[in-house]
Amino acid sequence: MKTIAVLTSGGDAPGMNAALRAVVRMAIYKGIRVMGVQRGYSGLINGELFEMDRRSVSDIIHKGGTILRTARCEEFKTPEGREKAANVLRVFGIDGLVVIGGDGSFTGAQYLSEMGIATVGIPGTIDNDLPYTEYAIGFDTALNTVLDAINKIRDTSSSHERISVVEVMGRNCGDIALHAGIGGGAEKVIIPEKGYEIDDLCKTIFEGKLRGKMHNLIILAEGVGGANELAKEIEEITGIESRATILGHIQRGGSPSAFDRMLASRMGVAAVEVLMEGKSGRVIGMRDGKIIDEDINTALAMPRKLDEELYEISKILSY
Ligand code: ADP
Ligand code: F6P
Repeated sequence: MKTIAVLTSGGDAPGMNAALRAVVRMAIYKGIRVMGVQRGYSGLINGELFEMDRRSVSDIIHKGGTILRTARCEEFKTPEGREKAANVLRVFGIDGLVVIGGDGSFTGAQYLSEMGIATVGIPGTIDNDLPYTEYAIGFDTALNTVLDAINKIRDTSSSHERISVVEVMGRNCGDIALHAGIGGGAEKVIIPEKGYEIDDLCKTIFEGKLRGKMHNLIILAEGVGGANELAKEIEEITGIESRATILGHIQRGGSPSAFDRMLASRMGVAAVEVLMEGKSGRVIGMRDGKIIDEDINTALAMPRKLDEELYEISKILSY
């Protein structure tokens, strides 16, 4: 392994820079040249590669976003697009590619691996929707951002004795909502894995009111529906003033948490090690607190399982 390339792809996540820093510094430490690819697969197709040194990743460990930029690239989903990308890697003499991104980016990496390019993926997505790993880089920071927002919403919601519906990201995965719901002391967590019945929800709100609840915080995962519509429906049925807050892209930014920096640093180092061992088509993950690598196909085929115990906890503690 003489030269590797690294790119960030899909939605950005806090900690991607820390992962990039680890990849670059570990590779150079092992005597491997590193090329950074700008703008994900789009930059790969267009040959946007530049050599990175230790200094090119200085002062980024604490920064959100990705200094490499990221992109969603439709052309790469076509065989012709991937052929162009593979040619660019060949032209630049790249022996291995590290892809930092989510499941879509991993699917792309798997195609390249099947084309004979050694690839390894590092999970970077706030959604935490990759079942093979306990945590993806960015999830913890996003969660803390959501908690900070919930604390503030709680203040005003309580003063006005209102219902607040807070919509959080996660695509079809309820992890951000569930963890934020427990950590933020929400009255109700609504996630795609479980759904909800509007009548049951309103009954719970009525019962809470009888028990003296001053306000209701409802955390809604975006994969279930919109907060504005839900708040309106709840207000119509219960007669209690309701407000919606859509947290949006604030969840994707900010300085990575200590946990995400550690995770990113460990995963970045592991990715280089995996390539040095001559493996390809692997993804780095965390299981039982340990850094592991897994076959990409196996990882992508794993069904997502909701942590039922956590869901139960969210219900018990909200009473
Ligand atoms: P994420 O990696 O965060 O899940 P996306 O799903 O948007 O984000 O995927 C990022 C990029 O990965 C896409 O823009 C595309 O270039 C590539 N990609 C996604 N799905 C595929 C696929 N089925 N085949 C090839 N490339 C894909
Ligand atoms: O995958 C990360 C994510 O932030 C999802 O939670 C969200 O559904 C999506 O990306 C938003 O994508 P965009 O930034 O393209 O609006």
